[in-house]
Amino acid sequence: MKIAITGGAGFIGANFVYYILEKYPEYDVICIDALTYAGNMETLESALADRRFVFRKADIADRTAICEIFEEHRPDVVVNFAAESHVDRSIENPELFLRTNILGTQVLLDACNKYSVKRFHQVSTDEVYGDLPLDRPDLMFTEERPLHASSPYSASKAGADLLVQAYYRTYGTPVTISRCSNNYGPFQFPEKLIPLMISNAMKNKPLPVYGKGENVRDWLYVEDHCTAIDLIIHKGRPGEVYNIGGNNERTNLEVVRTIVRILGRSENLITFVKDRPGHDLRYAIDASKIRKEMGWEPRTGFEEGLKRTIEWYISNQQWIEHVTSGEYQGYYARMYENR
Ligand code: NAD
Ligand code: TYD
Repeated sequence: MKIAITGGAGFIGANFVYYILEKYPEYDVICIDALTYAGNMETLESALADRRFVFRKADIADRTAICEIFEEHRPDVVVNFAAESHVDRSIENPELFLRTNILGTQVLLDACNKYSVKRFHQVSTDEVYGDLPLDRPDLMFTEERPLHASSPYSASKAGADLLVQAYYRTYGTPVTISRCSNNYGPFQFPEKLIPLMISNAMKNKPLPVYGKGENVRDWLYVEDHCTAIDLIIHKGRPGEVYNIGGNNERTNLEVVRTIVRILGRSENLITFVKDRPGHDLRYAIDASKIRKEMGWEPRTGFEEGLKRTIEWYISNQQWIEHVTSGEYQGYYARMYENR
């Protein structure tokens, strides 16, 4: 079996590369990644030492490059993690999000049809459902919920999901889609809430909380996301959507306070800053479909996962220095100075 993993130099993709290489000694992995600011070869250093692993630098929206790679490697399964993934950046530059997330997905779908790939799995997000009110804890996202995106990021992911479903209906492309809640764990780029707070708290820098910090996210340790995708590509029914969630809702302020406590820092570092435009209030996933069909359950509790993540960042400070040394400095200044 040969699995093509796009976006494998990024956070979840890299965790999935390592998960597959370890779990399936008989599988080959071909990683396709454009190495944007979010993709880092240092992340794949150990994988590159494995003979079953091949890396190709390519943009998923580049049809010629993608077809050449598929022609040469003939993957059985394609798992698409490649995306522009950060909401705040999508507010600055929506166009790039439409290009990568929608057109890139279309190019991959066409290549899957051309080379008779047996399964195309689209890694999507709970953000395509929009948000839920804070005062209705009884409401959760099911797979039947209509798409209702709030940000250019979530709109581009919703557009891609619709395209994936249209390819199933029109061309019979054997697709599956997973919509997962917020992930955290090793190798996450420190622009997202948890690694940004860990990295700032380690340096005793201010911890910028948007608005009042009341927004709620459902947090899942990245390894639990990997086990869910593993089950879906092997057992999921073509044409189906599967929600994945941690059953682990926390306000942003709770998350930041927990990080501060584990690191033994002062809560005085917490700084309330201007809210994100269009900021989604609450995400909550009903993951009963994947639980019933495939017996999937998240294994890592939030406190345990967070401790493991913090330990990883403490032990890998050089990785943080390297990934944040270039373009990130300008982004951080634009996003947080005078906010
Ligand atoms: P990430 O930003 O850490 O990594 C994205 C990777 O894609 C990077 O390696 C980048 O170089 C690569 N990439 C970007 N544009 C590309 C292009 N045009 N061609 C090829 N490669 C390109 O993202 P992540 O957090 O690992 O998310 C992976 C996927 O999971 C995304 O599709 C995202 O929408 C989805 N998702 C993320 C979360 C989360 O909490 N992080 C939750 C649910 C779903
Ligand atoms: P983020 O990690 O960007 O994920 P998403 O917006 O896709 O859920 O943000 C998680 C939550 O944390 C979100 O409600 C925005 C908030 N947030 C802050 O309060 N401060 C920050 O510096 C960042 C990056 C996010």
